[in-house]
Amino acid sequence: MNFSIRQAKVEDLDKIYELETLCFKDPYPKNLLYILFSLYPELFLVTETGNKIVGYVSGLVRRDGYGHIVSICIHPDYRRKGLGTAMMYTIEKILKENFGVCRYRLEVRVSNEAAIKLYHKLGYRIVKTIPKYYLDNEDAYLMIKDTC
Ligand SMILES: CC(C)(COP(=O)(O)OP(=O)(O)OC[C@H]1O[C@@H](n2cnc3c(N)ncnc32)[C@H](O)[C@@H]1OP(=O)(O)O)[C@@H](O)C(=O)NCCC(=O)NCCS
Repeated sequence: MNFSIRQAKVEDLDKIYELETLCFKDPYPKNLLYILFSLYPELFLVTETGNKIVGYVSGLVRRDGYGHIVSICIHPDYRRKGLGTAMMYTIEKILKENFGVCRYRLEVRVSNEAAIKLYHKLGYRIVKTIPKYYLDNEDAYLMIKDTC
């Protein structure tokens, strides 16, 4: 499948919010997506096939120097085609080259087997469980990848 990854534009945010509601039962509100986009536009990426946006990833740089992958979402019809992997590699590369980051972190629901498998494959490891991290009280795993 042909696809490309590029920085998001402000006019993509409606489409990104639509994707967000398809991916998560507790989607980020549109204004939070806008804040993430405004804070780190270089770290807010979309993937397109044809002219259709089918995924996004967003991140930020924490004060402790970690690159934080805040959210990743691939349209259900376009999963298991390597897009999630490509998005993760791309955001890690930008974090490294543009921000000098070599440590990455993220939180994931303990029940989210698909995402946990993806992150393990990419070299992330579970370092702790954060109790009741999500609004519905589900725990999160904190996962870290250290390439320093
Ligand atoms: C998690 C997610 C981003 C993965 O995206 P994707 O494009 O399907 O991922 P990839 O095709 O790159 O998959 C890479 C590997 O991850 C693992 N994986 C991905 N989805 C999986 C699934 N449903 N079941 C088991 N393993 C899975 C596999 O090891 C896969 O390699 P393989 O297809 O060669 O077996 C996607 O499922 C998604 O958007 N989920 C909803 C949102 C979400 O949970 N985001 C993460 C929040 S922390």
